[in-house]
Amino acid sequence: MARLKDKVIMVTGGARGLGEAEARRFAAEGAMVAICDVLEAEGRETAAAIGAAGGRACFFPLDVTDERAWEATVRAVKAWGGGIHGLVNNAGIVNRTGTSGTTLEAWSRVLAVNLTGAFLGIRAVAPVMRDSGGGAIVSIASVAAYTGHNDPAYSTTKAGVLGLTRSAAMEFVDWGIRVNAVSPGIIVTALNEGGGHLEPWRRATPLGRYGRMEEVANTVLFLLSDEASFITGEDIAVDGGFKAGGAARRISVEAGIDLTAPIA
Ligand SMILES: NC(=O)c1ccc[n+]([C@@H]2O[C@H](COP(=O)([O-])OP(=O)(O)OC[C@H]3O[C@@H](n4cnc5c(N)ncnc54)[C@H](O)[C@@H]3O)[C@@H](O)[C@H]2O)c1
Repeated sequence: MARLKDKVIMVTGGARGLGEAEARRFAAEGAMVAICDVLEAEGRETAAAIGAAGGRACFFPLDVTDERAWEATVRAVKAWGGGIHGLVNNAGIVNRTGTSGTTLEAWSRVLAVNLTGAFLGIRAVAPVMRDSGGGAIVSIASVAAYTGHNDPAYSTTKAGVLGLTRSAAMEFVDWGIRVNAVSPGIIVTALNEGGGHLEPWRRATPLGRYGRMEEVANTVLFLLSDEASFITGEDIAVDGGFKAGGAARRISVEAGIDLTAPIA
């Protein structure tokens, strides 16, 4: 299997969690993976583990909120791989306080990492991608982009990522660059581990379980690959049906309504 053979793919937040799963998956499909993160030790470990498994990966320290650092990292990745064909804007943080409890500092930090980070990444990488013969960008949004959420800063950034995705898709179509998003539902990672919302969220997920990191990674892989060659400006939910009707489905379950029975 080599669906990303010799493609150079940058993954922000690639040191752990979903980003690590994506990096491992892409490397297994023949990509050279640039793992970009603020977590240096974990990032180097992930790159080394990919190398030990026969893949190609290199760690590049990057704070996605830092405009200058983006320019330097893109130069370094290009020098390492000879070009750049893919970018996954995966780095993200949560805040988990309501609007009334969110300080301006906390609000600004979440916007800087989740939304401005993706903007800076797309802006820095797109010209190199064009000069590399085109490519694909995938930003990790969330079902929180679509629903009211108990973390308004987070929810706002994820809705913003969808706007950025559609706009960038239109802007870069003539450069041979497709731009898409993936919206995961609930997947247990360091981002949410131990959270009291996990189990209720699982119950509200029509497929009745948490998602697996590999399920997100597989979808991002698809969008990066030539199999998705006619898809741009789109978002794919990987959420066990939550966005499609998790609330209605849960209401039916609690009310004892059999959805397969004929209506009396
Ligand atoms: N886990 C879920 O249920 C879930 C659901 C929907 C969306 N997401 C999104 O998936 C993405 C990955 O989340 P995860 O669950 O793997 O969380 P995680 O906390 O395990 O991983 C996030 C990674 O981003 C990195 N990061 C944070 N700030 C950074 C910065 N300024 N610069 C560079 N890297 C930075 C972290 O160091 C970490 O490696 C996030 O965008 C998150 O919002 C996760």
